[in-house]
Amino acid sequence: MIIELDTLTINKIAAGEVIERPASVVKELVENSIDAGSTQIKVVLQEGGKKLIEVIDNGSGMNHDDALLSIKRHTTSKIAKAEDLFSIASLGFRGEALASIVSVAQVEIFTKREKDELGTHIHVEGGKILLDNKISLADGTKIAVRNLFYNVPVRRKFLKSETTEMNHITEYLTKLALAFPKISFSLVHNNRSVITAPKGDLISQINSIFGKNIAKACIPVSKTEEEYTVKGFITKPEFSRKSRDYLYIFVLNRPIVNKVITDAILRGYGTALPHDRAPIVFLNIKIPKNEIDVNVHPTKREVRFSKEAKLFGLVELAVKESLEKSGLEIFERVSEPKYKPTMLDQHSPSNVAPKKQPSQIRSSPSPSLAQDKLGYKVVKTRDKSIDHFLPPPHKGASYQKHEHSQKKLIKILGIIKDTYIIAETNEGLLLCDQHAAHEKINYSKYVDQIKRKKINVQSLLAPISVSIKPSELEVINGLKTNLMEYGFELEIFGKNEILIRSIPSIMGVAISYGLAKDLIDIFKENIDQISNQVKPEDLDFIKDIVSIFACRRSIKAGDKIAVSEAESLIENLLKLEEPYTCPHGRPTMVILNQKYIEEIFQRDYKS
Ligand SMILES: Nc1ncnc2c1ncn2[C@@H]1O[C@H](COP(=O)(O)OP(=O)(O)OP(=O)(O)O)[C@@H](O)[C@H]1O
Ligand SMILES: [Mg+2]
Repeated sequence: MIIELDTLTINKIAAGEVIERPASVVKELVENSIDAGSTQIKVVLQEGGKKLIEVIDNGSGMNHDDALLSIKRHTTSKIAKAEDLFSIASLGFRGEALASIVSVAQVEIFTKREKDELGTHIHVEGGKILLDNKISLADGTKIAVRNLFYNVPVRRKFLKSETTEMNHITEYLTKLALAFPKISFSLVHNNRSVITAPKGDLISQINSIFGKNIAKACIPVSKTEEEYTVKGFITKPEFSRKSRDYLYIFVLNRPIVNKVITDAILRGYGTALPHDRAPIVFLNIKIPKNEIDVNVHPTKREVRFSKEAKLFGLVELAVKESLEKSGLEIFERVSEPKYKPTMLDQHSPSNVAPKKQPSQIRSSPSPSLAQDKLGYKVVKTRDKSIDHFLPPPHKGASYQKHEHSQKKLIKILGIIKDTYIIAETNEGLLLCDQHAAHEKINYSKYVDQIKRKKINVQSLLAPISVSIKPSELEVINGLKTNLMEYGFELEIFGKNEILIRSIPSIMGVAISYGLAKDLIDIFKENIDQISNQVKPEDLDFIKDIVSIFACRRSIKAGDKIAVSEAESLIENLLKLEEPYTCPHGRPTMVILNQKYIEEIFQRDYKS
């Protein structure tokens, strides 16, 4: 039997698209305040927005009738007809946000226009109006959203941690404050001030949000060609980050994620920027209104441009010229293709820069593809094709048991290219990658210490200080206690600095500024893993941490090591339960057994 759904049910379903989490409520309400011409916007949160989200503005306000209309679906003052969709000047246009919010929360709206004597106070719960009063109020609008998803228990249950929510909310407000420097923004969480950004210009906003270190490092960008303008600030490559979280791109004041523009920026830096890094950039792009389509994604995060190639060229050149003016010599990255047109299906949400790919910022071919082309076998994990390179199953475990007898059987024959150890064992010829081996040993020791809750910690003689932004401060604040369990002691210092006081001793004593920045990025990417009790073997962030430290500290490919060192490296590796792969699944060593060697020489093999 087919029935027509009632309005509340329809709105609840639709709300799922627009309102995913507290951060989406903040986004929608603040965007409404901006559209209403406010010059001052205050956001107040409790419990990461799960308990309360309040947005107070001094904008146009609504009259009584409009206030009642605003919470209905498809009611908007921002567009009137379909053609208007192609020249949208406001942040909102669907007339969906308030209707969605009131269907999944307990909401109070207070609003008054300057010309009205009395304002309106409405109380709506689950789409039902419980109260509708005319009262005296200050001009502007205040909307309070309590207990989000109180009537959708499944969604409420699956809300992410307070730290994750604060990371998203703070980051989004940061973007809006940068996009609209003429508006004062403030954010207060659990009675603690998180962002205070008084109105000013872009550089004063950068200064009040990111701190003076980053503001001082800013290099101006300004380039105009016909109706196109690229304006803002970039920083020299030494300020680059592992993640793309410092790429602030605005098109017509709308914070956006867009691959074409990101690629153009990275290309503008040429070879000055390492492959796996992204710079700190604040860029405002102006193009004719009818050349941008903001209606491609339900949350409007992604946009499409009708003249992408032109935009690509302009952004690349603007970045390059500014860097050159600041005294840097920029060489083009020849290995990478220039502008690649966006395919239609690339506009799907999956096209957004994948978050969980910390070490691969640019889309380089996967290592397996690259190696296949070179014609040698790629061994990822212990699969069938490499079986004859490895000892029979369970042999790894038997090494452990017969440690002593095994010792005699490893004979180091040499080290080639200062990278690969060659040894003879009772199984055959052993080839070991010294760097991968060392990384694996360190990783296993670290996991073991975590399991035993006995981390050897190294206090840094001089704590290292890293510049951070408000969203990162929220993350560190939320994870500080958990991180102690992994051997990291961090302290928040002022609004834009964090001090790293100690690190697990397995990582070594020295930690550079660059490494410290990468650590913060890894923590950010793994908030949920760090704040939940996850089994040490399943912690991805531990692998990432060990690997970034290993790249700098443990034995690297190309380092000369003594034969005795090589011997103990292999011995220690063989003691592990899974000695054959590094934490990220690449091989640490392979054994060319007798059968394989005899096959190569086409001898008859009799076992
Ligand atoms: N803070 C505010 N001040 C003044 N008017 C507001 C405010 N918030 C909402 N409104 C009015 O309520 C209407 C509905 O808001 P709503 O966010 O639901 O839709 P929208 O902003 O038009 O579109 P979208 O769904 O894309 O956000 C707006 O068009 C606007 O007229
Ligand atoms: Mg809106």
